[in-house]
Amino acid sequence: MTIITTTDRSFQLLKGETLLDGLERTGHEVEYQCRSGYCGVCRLTLLAGEVSYDDPPLAYLGQSEILPCCCKVNGPIRIECRAGRQGELPVDTDQYSLDL
Ligand code: FES
Repeated sequence: MTIITTTDRSFQLLKGETLLDGLERTGHEVEYQCRSGYCGVCRLTLLAGEVSYDDPPLAYLGQSEILPCCCKVNGPIRIECRAGRQGELPVDTDQYSLDL
């Protein structure tokens, strides 16, 4: 189970879902264009946790920046991202241990 904690809420990333898909499903506002690591428009700041990439993305990434459209989330993470609309209800994270 992968718990994503954003500025406003926490949610569980579903199997087969990209981080960008999960953020959209839960009402977060993330800009995007290519959805495949080329443009860098979806760039977010990773505050805690780890992500990886199957292939290095072509978009420039600064330190602590990630591309939610194509990264693989390796365990619980905390990111800078705000929810802008009503999405799926957030997970009650009191029941999870987020050693971040
Ligand atoms: S949407 Fe283009 S790199 Fe993520």
